[in-house]
Amino acid sequence: MGLVIQSLPYLLLGAVQTLKITLVAVSLGCVFGLIAGMGRLSRRRLTSFLATCYVDFFRGTPLLVQIFIVYYGFPQLLNEGQQFLMAHFGLPQLLQTTHIPVFVAATVSTSLNSGAYVAEIFRAGIQSIERGQVEAARSLGMTERQTMRYIVLPQAFKRVIPPLGNEFIAMLKDTSLLSVIGYVELTRQGQLISAATFRPLEVFFAVALIYLVMTFTISRLVDYLERRLRTGDHD
Ligand code: ARG
Repeated sequence: MGLVIQSLPYLLLGAVQTLKITLVAVSLGCVFGLIAGMGRLSRRRLTSFLATCYVDFFRGTPLLVQIFIVYYGFPQLLNEGQQFLMAHFGLPQLLQTTHIPVFVAATVSTSLNSGAYVAEIFRAGIQSIERGQVEAARSLGMTERQTMRYIVLPQAFKRVIPPLGNEFIAMLKDTSLLSVIGYVELTRQGQLISAATFRPLEVFFAVALIYLVMTFTISRLVDYLERRLRTGDHD
């Protein structure tokens, strides 16, 4: 018990990193997700094809592998791309990259991944708005763009809050995978403390408990938000 209390400040520092990367991932994920989600609904074949490829790839492969591709694969791409430019276009070497910062790799991999999940959430949200709403707006002379902006999206946003909350909670737990590239979030911090103290049982129980407190708090928050938003609905 004394050990847990002693290591608590370090674990909490890790928890702050976990929250930070989750917030960044899901926020950027919302940007990618909105683009990809609307892309999938586009009538332009190429747009919807590209959006579908993005969503399928990131949902169909393990996040852990995506993290490896970004963290280990990207520096190789930078180097070999440069070598190509140097050999074929006589460009001088611009930078010597052996690795990219862990935070950058963490941000890129988790937000691209989250974007794919959020894309499906937004697509479902947009499609859940009754066809009659769009027809009514169009018959009042609104353009397609105006209908999307003023009629469909405001209503869809309300409906996607619960699934977005779930995505946030899922991502919060999945950021533990970042421990494998040495991003010092909660799980990695737990590993470090456990390695230094040889007390894995207490340490990882404490880690689990901190995750539980975070996910529980967020799910209550989402419930509350959902109830608040529902009172404004008259349908
Ligand atoms: N656990 C799954 C994986 O490893 C999903 C990870 C991403 N989860 C998420 N909600 N974005 O691929």
